[in-house]
Amino acid sequence: MPTLATKKLADTIGVEVLDVDVERLLTDETVPGALLDLLEQHSVLLFRQLHIDDDAQVKFCRRLGELALFPKYRIPEIMEISFEPDNPNREYFASNDYWHIDGALDEIPAKASVLSARVTAAEGGETEFASTYAAYDALTDEEKERFATLRVVHTFEAIQRLTYPDPTPEQIQEWASRAVRELPLVWEHDSGRRSLVFGATASHIVGLDVDEGRKLLADLESRATADDLVYRHQWSEGDMVIWDNTGLVHRACPFDRGKPRRMHRSTLLGTEAIS
Ligand code: OGA
Ligand code: MN
Repeated sequence: MPTLATKKLADTIGVEVLDVDVERLLTDETVPGALLDLLEQHSVLLFRQLHIDDDAQVKFCRRLGELALFPKYRIPEIMEISFEPDNPNREYFASNDYWHIDGALDEIPAKASVLSARVTAAEGGETEFASTYAAYDALTDEEKERFATLRVVHTFEAIQRLTYPDPTPEQIQEWASRAVRELPLVWEHDSGRRSLVFGATASHIVGLDVDEGRKLLADLESRATADDLVYRHQWSEGDMVIWDNTGLVHRACPFDRGKPRRMHRSTLLGTEAIS
C-alpha cells in the first residue's frame, strides 16, 4: 500500500494529508484503507482546500463505511451545521461549543465525522480537537486503577443546560425524551487501546457525590484539553477534516452567530459500543 504523505498538525493529535485531490479520494483503491489507518493513528486528518462538493463527499464517505442519515436535511447524508433560521437543528448547535463526543448518547457512537467548510466565519469559528487516548495515557497508575470501575451518566440535558441554563418547561420535556446512557469512564476499545470518556454530555459519576463527580470530570477535561494538547483548526473555505470520534473530544469556537458560517457534516456509523 503506498503511504500517503502527511504533515503533523500538533504534538499529540492530527496530520494534514498531502498530495490528494477529490479525484484520487474517489478512485484510488488504496486510499480508504490508508486513511482509516492514519485516522486510528492520528485522530484528525486535514485536507486543506479540497473543495469537495456534496455529491463527491457522500461518495467518498461511502468508501470509508456506512453513513448516518439525517432525514430532515436536503441530502440525508449531509447535516448542515449552521445557525440559518431554516436549519432544523439550529437550536442544538450552540452546544457544539463545549467539548463533546458526537453521538455519546447513541447506543453505538459514530466512528468518525467528516466536516467540510462551505462558508467560514469572518472571525472565530475554529474547531478544536483533543485526544482522549492521550488523556488516558497521561493518567498516573493510581488513577488508572481508581478509574477502571467508574461509570458516568450522560444526558442530553447536561449538554443543553450549558447553552440554556434557564430552560423552558418545553425544553426540559424535550431533553427528558432523549436517551440517558451510563458509560464507563475508561473505554477499552476492541483494538486494546484505552481512552477516557467525558465531555459535555457527562452529568455525574455513579456512586459519587454529584459535586465531587463533576469536579473530577472537570479536572479530567481540563487536563486533556490543555492548550499544548489541542489542535485548533482555523478553517479556510474548502477545507475538509475527518476526526476519529472514538478517540477524541472536539468543540467549536465562538463566532458571531448572526453572520454566516456553514459546515457540511457526514457521519460514519460506529461499529463498537463504549464499554
Ligand atoms: C459537529 C461539531 C463543530 C464545528 O459538527 O459535530 O461539533 O466547529 N462541529 O462546527
Ligand atoms: Mn460535534
